[in-house]
Amino acid sequence: MMLTDYSRIVVAYDHSDLSKKALKMAMNLAKQDKLIQLNVVTVMQPVRPLPYSSYGYALALNRESQEKEFQAIRDEITEELKTLPNKSKLLLLEGLPGQMIVEFVKEYDADLVVMGSRGLSGLKELFLGSVSHYVVQKAPCPVFIVK
Ligand SMILES: Nc1ncnc2c1ncn2[C@@H]1O[C@H](COP(=O)(O)OP(=O)(O)OP(=O)(O)O)[C@@H](O)[C@H]1O
Ligand SMILES: [Mg+2]
Repeated sequence: MMLTDYSRIVVAYDHSDLSKKALKMAMNLAKQDKLIQLNVVTVMQPVRPLPYSSYGYALALNRESQEKEFQAIRDEITEELKTLPNKSKLLLLEGLPGQMIVEFVKEYDADLVVMGSRGLSGLKELFLGSVSHYVVQKAPCPVFIVK
């Protein structure tokens, strides 16, 4: 199997340790051939209303902290991707993570997804989290699960 069979790689990145490992892995693949294109996708979940009386305020605070977090991810990943000669991009999408990742994979016509087995929630009873489980089932291309 030629590495260049996987020339359009998507990394699903949620800032968890395993997603960092997935990014490293994908960057190492990309280093093998500068024709490989890398797209790092981070999905922001729509903020759920909290059961506070002043919930509009809580919602705004939540939204603000989420945006701060994503700004931090943007800065960090942009710096990291600069170290590659490959064409690469960071995409911030909004919606349900699994669905948005699969939608992007289809639209971009990716030929490999690289992601972690688990993410930020850290429950360890199951091998796959809900997002990796969904993407493995629904993606039209191979999915490389980092553990
Ligand atoms: N919001 C997201 N944006 C991009 N990639 C994500 C996102 N959430 C998860 N991922 C990817 O999916 C992998 C597995 O995370 P997942 O969310 O499935 O597990 P979890 O957080 O442990 O469990 P769960 O979210 O189901 O409670 C992560 O390592 C990351 O690669
Ligand atoms: Mg998760």
